[in-house]
Amino acid sequence: MAKRIDVKDLNIYYGKFHAVADVKLNVLPRSVTAFIGPSGCGKSTVLRSLNRMHEVIPGARVEGAVLLDGEDIYGATVDPVGVRRTIGMVFQRPNPFPTMSIRDNVVAGLKLQGVRNKKELDEVAERSLRGANLWNEVKDRLDKPGGGLSGGQQQRLCIARAIAVSPDVLLMDEPCSALDPISTLAIEDLITELKKEFTIVIVTHNMQQAARVSDQTGFFNLEAQGKPGRLIEIDDTEKIFSNPGQKATEDYISGRFG
Ligand SMILES: Nc1ncnc2c1ncn2[C@@H]1O[C@H](COP(=O)(O)OP(=O)(O)O)[C@@H](O)[C@H]1O
Ligand SMILES: [Mg+2]
Repeated sequence: MAKRIDVKDLNIYYGKFHAVADVKLNVLPRSVTAFIGPSGCGKSTVLRSLNRMHEVIPGARVEGAVLLDGEDIYGATVDPVGVRRTIGMVFQRPNPFPTMSIRDNVVAGLKLQGVRNKKELDEVAERSLRGANLWNEVKDRLDKPGGGLSGGQQQRLCIARAIAVSPDVLLMDEPCSALDPISTLAIEDLITELKKEFTIVIVTHNMQQAARVSDQTGFFNLEAQGKPGRLIEIDDTEKIFSNPGQKATEDYISGRFG
């Protein structure tokens, strides 16, 4: 199958600090890839470099290539704004626009793109909220502020907002870390639904979550403080959790780390 994402020799810097070294990985369409590993080893940094969010930090840069369907998103003529539309992102803390209505939160991206047709906006809002498993809970309060929803609902609202612009890929950075266990399971179920349509890369500190939702898992690690983080191995999730190729991975997943 053709690769959706192909990361080639990616090195990532914050100014002079070499944060992540020599990452190579492939992601197939309509699959879920999980990144696990101790904190500070560069999981979020790699994720943000997959849609050019890394470079918004002053002094931050990458070397290497990230191919999306064969085209380098870091190519000289590529518009980063377009990249971020095709490769959407959901963050650790739900970040809806709190005073904006639920409906307007979902279609904020489309409005930015200049869509003004109310019927079209309403249709996209409904489709996206259904896609995020939130429609039934909010359909009678679409004009109420997004900030009035529970944490789990706000996170699904952010997922609705991300899918409203029809991305190919969704990046999720610990999307459940601020949520209670029930909301976490709701998001995990949702990820399994979303993968029928989208390609997903998720950072999680929860190994059970990685095992439950992902097809392949990448283990990141840090040799020592101040050294760059590395992708130690990436393989089928079942293999990583039953018979990993590297001792460091085995130590980490069996809790003997550090
Ligand atoms: N904005 C930033 N400026 C400078 N260094 C950063 C920044 N964000 C992260 N780092 C550093 O990059 C390394 C990787 O961090 P990060 O990607 O957040 O790790 P993880 O997500 O695995 O916990 C860490 O040493 C961290 O301190
Ligand atoms: Mg992180």
